[in-house]
Amino acid sequence: MSDQNHNIRSAEGAVYFIFGATGDLARRKLFPALYSLYREGKLGQRFAIVGLARRPRTDEQFRSDVLESIREFCRYKPEEGEAWRTFADRFSYHSLDIGNVEGMKQLQQTTLELEKRFEIPGNRLFYLALAPDLFGTVSRNLRDGGMLDSDGWHRLVIEKPFGYDYPSAERLNEEIRHVFREDEVFRIDHYLGKEMVQNIEVIRFANAFFEPLWNGRHIANVQITLAETVGVEERGAYYNKSGALRDMVQNHMLQMLTMIAMEPPSRLDPEDIRDEKVKVLRSIRGFQAPDEVRRRVVRGQYAEGSARGKPIPGYRQEESVPGDSATETFFAARLFVDNFRWAGVPFYVRTGKRLPVKSTEIVVEFKNVPNNVLFSRRQELQPNLLVIRVNPMEGIYIKINAKKPGNDMTIQPVAMEFCQSCQVGINTPEAYERLIHDAGRGDSTYFTRWDELAAAWQLVDPIAAAWRENADDLAFYPGGTWGPDRADELLAEDGFHWWPVNGQEEDNVIWVTNSKPE
Ligand code: BG6
Repeated sequence: MSDQNHNIRSAEGAVYFIFGATGDLARRKLFPALYSLYREGKLGQRFAIVGLARRPRTDEQFRSDVLESIREFCRYKPEEGEAWRTFADRFSYHSLDIGNVEGMKQLQQTTLELEKRFEIPGNRLFYLALAPDLFGTVSRNLRDGGMLDSDGWHRLVIEKPFGYDYPSAERLNEEIRHVFREDEVFRIDHYLGKEMVQNIEVIRFANAFFEPLWNGRHIANVQITLAETVGVEERGAYYNKSGALRDMVQNHMLQMLTMIAMEPPSRLDPEDIRDEKVKVLRSIRGFQAPDEVRRRVVRGQYAEGSARGKPIPGYRQEESVPGDSATETFFAARLFVDNFRWAGVPFYVRTGKRLPVKSTEIVVEFKNVPNNVLFSRRQELQPNLLVIRVNPMEGIYIKINAKKPGNDMTIQPVAMEFCQSCQVGINTPEAYERLIHDAGRGDSTYFTRWDELAAAWQLVDPIAAAWRENADDLAFYPGGTWGPDRADELLAEDGFHWWPVNGQEEDNVIWVTNSKPE
């Protein structure tokens, strides 16, 4: 049995170490996720959670913070009484200077006691909700402090940003790999934990009628939109160095693209799936020269605008953002996957802050029936669409053409929707729940392998390099609009247009849906 398979079977019995336990990610996502897993029995009986941060706190103070975070952010409300007390009893807090090996040695003593008390067989999961420049130090000190000497497995879970470009990502990776093997490193891209992103595989590979059409002979283009209404909020300092390219495109957008474009893996094994994804990333046509970047990529920055009738500030007025910043808050591009399946099919991707709606959708636009036959001679037909709604609505719809009831042969588009998030009684797990659970079981399918990450950086680095030359192509768009006009021209040049991300806004389409009208 491979190590990987072995790990998948040992689903329970671990200590979960949360580094950065007083931070925002822990409060909003990690504690609520752990509580949901506990409520669903997915942590098993033998587990303990240790919160780690520098500031001193008692276990009691820490548990009360955790309770608050669960009350505010968890899809399960904490039951008072026994169930909560049992959970809280597994939580402890340990004040730690992560730069200091002595602190790790003390942590090792505390951990041994916890493992004895809860009969945990030495399995340890280290979740670093920390700035990436600390990953190397923490890894080394974990090893030097004896934290990796226990009998069970050891896994490192880390968050983006993983580097700033390919060379810095490689350096970071080397630091980590001095201590952990690749199969022990779980790099989170929370988009891979989303229900509908995982559903892409099922839609594609469990339905007989999509796969035969899933290629450049039948698909005209693919559009991936990740739109947000928020600005950069209080993250100006981080965002100004990162921009949409590094914050969203290098990771979430490319991950969604690979799920749409990958070949069916021969087995549903984590490595087989990730092998197929890497092949897609390596097949994406690179940018050879700055000119090509300007032709195929659009960058924008939000200026003052309005949302729901209220004025909103421009990006340069945000806290911690320099008044002359050239950082992009909007990105759109025409990408090509140069392999047999996708030759000639444009993949349009766009993402931005301060857009009119929050919505992540993937639209697969099929080629039209030949335009000189039958019905298309009488009436302009709309193409068939398959739309995967990722966020915040979850579901899919298919747009077809059908006869409008009546005496004449009028054709009308009909959208048939399965709205998953509208179903009564559905309480979908959060991305972080799935990912922590998968990491605890050793299933790395929905984590980013180093070669995927490297390929993604190699693709985006030439874009950043072209942008550094000058900022002439940076276009400003009023907050609350769909970004620079150039993003529309990108599709118009090929005879296409962006489909509205909230398809129900389209006129003249009959909706058959299980969603409730507003
Ligand atoms: C994060 C980015 O990775 O994803 C944020 O750093 C962004 O800038 C967020 O807001 C979007 O995630 P979601 O799940 O709300 O679409």
